[in-house]
Amino acid sequence: MDARIAPIAPDQLPELYPALCDILIETVGLGASVGFLAPLSFEDALAFWRGCGRALEAGDRLMWGAWIGETLAGTVQIVVGMPGNQQHRVDLVKLMTLPRLRGGGIGAALTLAAEAEAARLGKTLVVLDTVAGNPAQRLYERLGYTAAGVIPDYARSSAGPLEPTCLMYKRLGG
Ligand SMILES: CC(C)(COP(=O)(O)OP(=O)(O)OC[C@H]1O[C@@H](n2cnc3c(N)ncnc32)[C@H](O)[C@@H]1OP(=O)(O)O)[C@@H](O)C(=O)NCCC(=O)NCCS
Repeated sequence: MDARIAPIAPDQLPELYPALCDILIETVGLGASVGFLAPLSFEDALAFWRGCGRALEAGDRLMWGAWIGETLAGTVQIVVGMPGNQQHRVDLVKLMTLPRLRGGGIGAALTLAAEAEAARLGKTLVVLDTVAGNPAQRLYERLGYTAAGVIPDYARSSAGPLEPTCLMYKRLGG
C-alpha cells in the first residue's frame, strides 16, 4: 500500500478537519491511549484539531498526513516548541492510522517523514511515549527507537483502565 506523505500547513487544516476527526474518533473508539476517553464526540475531536491548528500557526508543532488516493489515512506531529535548553530535540506525538488501513506501513512512513524533517532542522533527538507492549512500541523499536523505561499506571486507555507507558527515544543523524 503506497501512501503519499505530505506536510500539512496550518491553512490546509480546516478542510481536513472532518477526516482528522474520523481518524481520532475511530482510534479512540478502539481503545487507544491518545489523550481521550471513549466515546469521543465530534465536537471534542474538532476542538482538539483546532488546538493543533493554533499550535501549527504558532510554529510550535509540525504535522504530516498520509493519503491513499483521496483518503486521509493517517497523521503524525512533532512538537518543536521546546524550552530554550531543549532546542535540539522534538517530541513525536499523535501518530494515528485509520483502523481499516493499519498494517500497511503508513505509521512507519509517517514516523520516518517526521524524523527526516526534524533532522533537516538540525534536531538530534526524538522522544515519545506509547502504551507499553502495544503495536506502536513494536513499530518504534523496528525504526530504531530505544525503550528508556516503563512507567506503570501512566494514563487510562480510552476504555478506562490505567496502562503503563514506555518512554522511548531515538538519536538522529549519527
Ligand atoms: C500505531 C499505529 C499508528 C501504526 O500504524 P500502521 O499504519 O498500522 O503502522 P505500520 O503498518 O507501519 O506498522 C504497524 C505494525 O502492526 C502490524 N500490523 C499488521 N496488521 C495490522 C493491523 N491490521 N492493524 C494494526 N497493525 C497491524 C504491522 O505488521 C506492523 O508491525 P511491526 O512493526 O511489528 O512490523 C496504529 O496502530 C494506530 O493508529 N494505533 C492507535 C494509535 C496509537 O497507538 N498511536 C501511537 C501513539 S504513540
